[in-house]
Amino acid sequence: MTFARVAGVGSYLPSNRVLNDDLVARGVDTNDEWIVARTGIKARHLAEAGQTSSDLGLIAAQRALEMAGVAAEQLDLIIVATSTPDFIFPSTACLLQGRLGNKGAVAFDVQAVCSGFVYALSIAEKFIKSGTHKRALVIGAEVFSRILDWNDRGTCVLFGDGAGAVVLEAADKPGILATALHADGAHHGILSVPGNVAGGKVTGDPFLRMDGQAVFKFAVRVLAEVAHECCEQAQVAPAEIDWLIPHQANIRIIEATARKMGLPMDKVIVTVDQHGNTSAASVPLALDAAVRDGRIRHGQKVMLEGVGGGFTWGAVLLEF
Ligand code: UT7
Repeated sequence: MTFARVAGVGSYLPSNRVLNDDLVARGVDTNDEWIVARTGIKARHLAEAGQTSSDLGLIAAQRALEMAGVAAEQLDLIIVATSTPDFIFPSTACLLQGRLGNKGAVAFDVQAVCSGFVYALSIAEKFIKSGTHKRALVIGAEVFSRILDWNDRGTCVLFGDGAGAVVLEAADKPGILATALHADGAHHGILSVPGNVAGGKVTGDPFLRMDGQAVFKFAVRVLAEVAHECCEQAQVAPAEIDWLIPHQANIRIIEATARKMGLPMDKVIVTVDQHGNTSAASVPLALDAAVRDGRIRHGQKVMLEGVGGGFTWGAVLLEF
């Protein structure tokens, strides 16, 4: 039986680190106490003008390839999860393929907003398990600062920019143990960027709009449900999970999910305080942080979870 296992992880954050008080200094009508109490966010990193998702993704990918000991030419699949691609087309995956110097790999983007990385990882696993592909690079890369309305304090304080990457390889032992993906388009209106391009211009609203409380309730419910679904599929009890890495949007959502899973917070990887919500980059950024600081070790069971616009949600249970 062929499994897909993580061979390397990497991430990259733009150098510009912005504290809550820096937002106040820029004129956002907010304060550090509100942001920390309601979200747990203390800082986020913002890309420089002109710095794109492929710029961030490239460094994250190079770091993951280096850890895996894999050369870019050896990849036969490249998937980028992003809602803030460099261009309408070509895909950010094709741009990164060119920049990495790979030829011939299948390359495409996945658009599932904050669930994008778990969607992309699940897709890559299915390619590898089918036997058609052996080495995949899966990247979550976002510059959400480009789609924020800096006059909307209910959203602009929440998000940050960054990228994370994973190299997934065919292996004869696990590996990814279970995946579960879902979507329900009936809820498309509670989190969206409702603009489009026509006649060379954005028509409609080009900024992220959100019904925060509706998103909050939805996220807490589905993150717990989908984690349990993955556990059942893999015949793994929640208590056997060594590390839970939920999408990093709000510490209160993360704590509620851990509670519903019966997991103590010392088994949960939290980066939302330092990164804010980086959408599709949030889960691989948190995974990379915890691998590199030695918390996540080989053989441990790790649950990754995403939830975001669409609505979409999903989880991947893996043995690292
Ligand atoms: O990737 C998935 C995407 N998003 C999420 O997961 C976000 C989910 N939702 C949330 O995290 C929370 O709903 C928020 C953090 C967005 C908002 O927290 P809340 O506890 O639901 O606050 P609220 O929207 O009910 O607003 C409460 C008050 C309001 O004032 P009044 O009407 O009570 O006077 C807001 O105007 O807080 C005010 N407020 C702010 N005050 C200071 C809203 N944003 C801010 C702000 N600074 N940045």
